[in-house]
Amino acid sequence: MKRMIGDKIFITIAVLFIFFQALSQSSKQEMKKLVDEDLQLAVKQFKYMQKLLPADKLPRSYDSVKNELIVSGTDWWCSGFYPGALWYLYGYSKDESLKKEAIRTTALLEKEKNNTGTHDLGFMLYCSYGNGYRLTKDNSYKNVMITGARSLSTRFNPIIGCIKSWNTNSRWQFPVIVDNMMNLEFLCEMTKLSGDSTFYKIAVTHANTTLKNHYRNDFSSYHLIDYDTITGKKIKGYTAQGAFDESAWARGQSWGLYGFTMMYRETGMEEYLNEANNIANFLLHHKNMPADKIPYWDYDATDIPNTYRDASAASIMCSALLELAKYSNEQQRKEYLNTATTILKNLSSVYRAAVNTNGGFVLKHSVGHLPGKSEIDVPLTYADYYFIEALMRYKNWYLK
Ligand code: GLY
Repeated sequence: MKRMIGDKIFITIAVLFIFFQALSQSSKQEMKKLVDEDLQLAVKQFKYMQKLLPADKLPRSYDSVKNELIVSGTDWWCSGFYPGALWYLYGYSKDESLKKEAIRTTALLEKEKNNTGTHDLGFMLYCSYGNGYRLTKDNSYKNVMITGARSLSTRFNPIIGCIKSWNTNSRWQFPVIVDNMMNLEFLCEMTKLSGDSTFYKIAVTHANTTLKNHYRNDFSSYHLIDYDTITGKKIKGYTAQGAFDESAWARGQSWGLYGFTMMYRETGMEEYLNEANNIANFLLHHKNMPADKIPYWDYDATDIPNTYRDASAASIMCSALLELAKYSNEQQRKEYLNTATTILKNLSSVYRAAVNTNGGFVLKHSVGHLPGKSEIDVPLTYADYYFIEALMRYKNWYLK
């Protein structure tokens, strides 16, 4: 009798095991199909965008009323995303025409290596030259980046322990925005490529100061902290692009999540991993996080649900969660992967453009600067860049 019960339990467990294996295989197949479909569409869209792009410009957004691609010069903080996305898509497709366009537009950015007037050199030079170097190992790319890292380092203030984001204006003495965490990967990598540890030390100091001053007790982040240049102390937290000073501006939360996850990878420091997990916990369980996991432009926007979603905040968060899942316990890993999968599925439906529309951008419905009445509910080049990065991460890390 006992033996029969034992056999039955064994058979039930075996059947359940086979059932869940089959289920996970079928959802893997479903994601494989979706990821390839998205990447193939992105290839077509970027080829279409290339035709619309003036020779010396980079894409920024798209005006659907005028049916016009909106472009920028190389000094705009987003100039690296188009060449960077092309490098990712070349890595995916091995299509030589994408490589050619990536090489052409990466080269346009070379002069920015001497730009000491911006903190965005990581976005500009690492997304472009960094991805190009990863695929080609071209030494000239390395040298451009090392010069760029020196330029970025001139903005570091050792009394404050941060890189200055924007040059001083009448409102702030030494503004530092959470977005600036994203430029630290560039510095860490440049220490590896140059052997100069200064870059790495600046990155770690900046991350530590951000950890201390930018985050509230609930692990939401201020957009901007202003520092006193004499004492080095924090003056006060503000917003620039969010709803109000104490709000959680959605893209800023995604930048922080991505930034601390990446800094854990670069340093192995547990504080950064804990911070990233705490930020993820704040975001994924936020009362205003919609079921489809595409955040509103600010988690505290006063008119939720009658306000805009930000696809860029979703794609950055998705890419970050895919990496954080690699460093997390089983329960967190499941939650992060489920959320990232939900984001990818939803971005691939109503947010995704049809081929040869949308100025060549893959995604619609991002928000650049709502309080500034600029770039509201439009395609944005960084939404596409991090979407494509997330697709590549999903493919390379979870679908093999
Ligand atoms: N780093 C500027 C932005 O996220 O809008």
